Parts: sequence; C-alpha cells; structure tokens
Amino acid sequence: GAEATIPVLVIGTGYGGSVAALRLAQAGVNVQMYEMGMAWDTPGSDGKIFCNTTSPDQRSYWLRTKTKQPLSNFLGFPIDKNIPRYTGILDAEEMGGIIVYQGRGVGGGSLVNGGMAVTPKRENFSAILPSVNADEMYNTYYPRANAALGVNTIDPAWFETTAAYQYARVGRKHAQRSGFPFVFVPDVYDWDYMKQEAAGTVPKSALAGEILYGNNYGKKSLQRTYIAQAKATGRVTIFPQHRVTSVAPAAGGGYNVVIEQISTSGDTVATKNVVAAKVFFAAGSVGTSKLLVKLKATGALPNLNAEVGQGWGDNGNVMCGRANHLWDPTGSLQSSIPCSGIDNWAAGGAFAEVAPLPTGIETYASFYLSITKNPNRAQFSWNAAAGKVDLNWQTAWKQPSINMAKTIFDKINAKEGTIYRTDLFGTYKIWGDHLTYHPLGGAVLNKATDNYGRLHGYPGLYVIDGSLIPGNTSVNPFVTITALAERNIEQIIATDL
Ligand code: FDA
Repeated sequence: GAEATIPVLVIGTGYGGSVAALRLAQAGVNVQMYEMGMAWDTPGSDGKIFCNTTSPDQRSYWLRTKTKQPLSNFLGFPIDKNIPRYTGILDAEEMGGIIVYQGRGVGGGSLVNGGMAVTPKRENFSAILPSVNADEMYNTYYPRANAALGVNTIDPAWFETTAAYQYARVGRKHAQRSGFPFVFVPDVYDWDYMKQEAAGTVPKSALAGEILYGNNYGKKSLQRTYIAQAKATGRVTIFPQHRVTSVAPAAGGGYNVVIEQISTSGDTVATKNVVAAKVFFAAGSVGTSKLLVKLKATGALPNLNAEVGQGWGDNGNVMCGRANHLWDPTGSLQSSIPCSGIDNWAAGGAFAEVAPLPTGIETYASFYLSITKNPNRAQFSWNAAAGKVDLNWQTAWKQPSINMAKTIFDKINAKEGTIYRTDLFGTYKIWGDHLTYHPLGGAVLNKATDNYGRLHGYPGLYVIDGSLIPGNTSVNPFVTITALAERNIEQIIATDL
C-alpha cells in the first residue's frame, strides 16, 4: 500500500540525479533517491570494493554470466571469461545494433568512467544544446559543475617524465607530426594521488589498470563529491538495489512510484509504493528513455508527447588501434586514466582520445576512442509483444564515425608508415563500431520537456540527465550533463517549489 507523500523522489544516482538531490536538499527539501545498482561501499573478500580489469569477477558486470569486454580480443584471442551472475558495476546493455555501456550503482557512470571532464569548445555549444543560453552556461553553470566535480589537470612536467604516460607522449608525437592539435584533457582523477602511486607511496589504482569496473583510489567519483555533500545535508536518503518500474498520477495528487527491491542476483525481493509530489527521472539516457516510453505506451503516463523516445545518439563513439614501429613503444605501464586528445573536430568531425591499453605488457599499440559528429539518431519504441523497449540503432550507422576518425588515423598511418591493429575487436576487424560509452538523448530538452526539463503533460515530473541532450556533445559528456542539471535545478527550485 502507498505510504505518506514524500516531497521529491529521484530515479537514479548518476550526474543528473546527484545534482538534483544536492541542490534540492540545500534548498531545504527532503529527497529520496532510488538506485537499481549496488551501494559500492563495502570491500569484498579481497579487501577491495572494486575488481580490476585484469581479473574481472562477479563485481564486474551487471547480471551476466560472461564478461563483455569492450575490447573482446587481444592478439586474436577472445579474452572474455565466465563470471557468476551478479548485480555488478558495468552494464553492457545490448540494444539493437549497439552495446551501450553504463555504470550501475550509487554514483552511476562516475563509478566506471575514465573521469575525463571536458567542457565543449564554446563555438560548438549552439549545436549541442540549441535552446540553452551559452553565456549562462559558460559564465555560471560549467564553472559550477567543474568546481563541484573536482576537475583538475595533469602537471605538464610530470607528464613529460612519467613512464605511465609514455603511450600518451607517443600519441602526441604522432598527432603533431601529422599536423593535428594535441590537447590535454582535464579529469576528476586526483593527479597528485597518481604521482604518489608512481612514487610507490600509496595503494595503486590508475597505475594498477583499474577502470571500467571501478577505481578503488584516486578517482573522485560522485560518491566523493556531489553525493557526499548531499548526504551531509541530512536530507537525502539513498536506496540502493531498488529499481523503479512505474510512475503514474496518484489519486490524491502527486505520483505513485512503484519500486522493486532486488537481490544481488537481480531477483525482486520486495515491491514498494511511494507517493511523491515531484519525481526526477535521472536513470540515464537509456534508463529514463526506456521508462518514459514504456509508461506512455502502457497508459501510466499517456499524455507524454511524441518526442519521448526520440533523438538518441551515441556521441559518435568509435574505437581503433594502430600498430607502432618497434622504435615507438607505448609502455608496459599505462595509466588507466587518459589525459590527452587529438582535436580534429572542426576540420574532420572527430575528437580522439589517446586511450590506454593497460595490459601490463608492451603492445606497440596506440589505442584511441574517437568522439565524432555522427548525424544519425535513433528512437526508442515500445515492443508490446516482447514487453520491452527497443532501440532502432543500426550498426551501419557508425560508418560516418569511421569516416571521421579516418581523417585523423589514415593521415597518421600514412605519415608514420604504420597500419591499423586488426586483433582488438575480433579477427581482422579494425573498427570498434559495436558500442558506445556515451548514450545521449531520448527525452530531449525543449522537445519532450520544456527548456528546463519539465516533462510536457505532467506537472511535477522532470528529466534531469543525459537523455535531455540530443545525441552529441562534441567531447566526453558528463561535464555538460552536470552543468545542464545545475542550470535546470536552479530554475526549478526558484519557480516550482
Ligand atoms: P548515469 O548513467 O550516470 O546514471 C543513471 C543511474 O540510474 C545509474 O546508476 C543506473 O543504475 C540508474 N538507473 C537506471 N534505471 C533505473 C531504474 N529504473 N531504477 C533505479 N535506478 C535506475 N563521460 C565523460 O564525460 N568522461 C569520461 O571519461 C567517460 N568515460 C566513460 C567510460 C565508460 C566505460 C562509460 C560506461 C561511460 C563513460 N562516460 C564518460 C559517460 C558518462 O559516465 C555518462 O555520460 C554519465 O554517467 C551519464 O550521466 P547520467 O546522469 O545521464 O546517468
């Protein structure tokens, strides 16, 4: 049965949800956050909260019996292995022609990501969020987000000398020899901590290859920033292992939210009903889009408009590796935290991160994740027969991304006399075109919602995560997701409370 009405319920604990919870709590509002992933605050039997990329165990993947590593092969050999089915930290969600990687747990994507905290170039902003005032974003909300996230930059002198960024220095050399701008990329990893890792004075995380399945030390995930601050207000309660399945208008006003409490094997152990005056959808681009499309189609929220489920993009993600000559080793020790990129956005539509391959051995490989100006957009729709939401993305829609990435790497290969690696994504496969780390859109700002994330048709329902952004941010997305959430929640607190 329904309990007493609570003022605000937030679905999800990633960037958007954490910003909403903190700012509402600071404004004196009590907030309940429901998160389907685990709390990730308790060490396992090895004394660590998170497992390593070199030995993924049950903690690595969300409800899978086999790992689904972004790089499926190495030197031609498949590297995935069996694991116990468990509510692990990284979801490799297969949707149509794409695998969408997402973080699961208190902190959302901040638990698993590389921490690259990039503010888009000002001149690109109007294409990213056309209805948003750029002056306000660059004067107020981007600075606010960067400060609260703890964004910092690598010490350039240390970069030049540390073995852990040999791979990035090789990446720079090759970029510059082909005339491409090489840029340092800010991060939320604590660079001073990484220096101490290199000096051997603290337990290692980035220099132990930790990434994808969590970082035990050094990375300032949301658990250490927004969520820590939110908890300190005393007004925020977080419920991990709770999955929201329905939101519908309640008879006496507000919204009835149905929540399933789940075990670590993913089974429902209890179902709860909460009535909330206001509900914030912050389940991430895929999570929020799936919920809204289902709720519209099944009659729980029939007045949502036709924009719900539209405008989804992959931020143009595509991966590739290059095979270097023997005189360009990239190092057996590689920091798992990338610190640099190659900017060919204006000329070729690609921004390529120089990414690590932290295998522990010399690979003579340079590895890159490119963010490209891929124009393709997909939509979510309700599949009544299967009782689930589908996404109509096609694998072939990555071809523009490949073409844009080639504007960088074909040129570098020609200049260096090198070739692409063909052993990382299968056998004789050059392009990692099967995945995205950066799902965006599905409930686009000023279309499915008003210009501040208020869902059309339902006062008191809001979207405040990556689903607001129409498919591309030109760089890594979480700073923009955070800054947009800061902008929207400020307006909502001022006018809707
Ligand atoms: P986010 O996905 O963070 O949070 C949503 C939360 O809601 C999740 O915790 C989820 O479990 C929960 N949820 C979903 N459905 C639910 C339901 N029904 N009930 C309850 N809870 C539910 N970006 C960047 O800027 N720099 C980088 O370096 C990287 N690197 C990177 C690496 C990898 C491996 C990944 C997977 C992603 C990145 N990203 C990144 C992307 C970045 O992490 C991502 O854009 C943000 O986390 C998205 O923030 P949101 O607030 O939209 O949702």
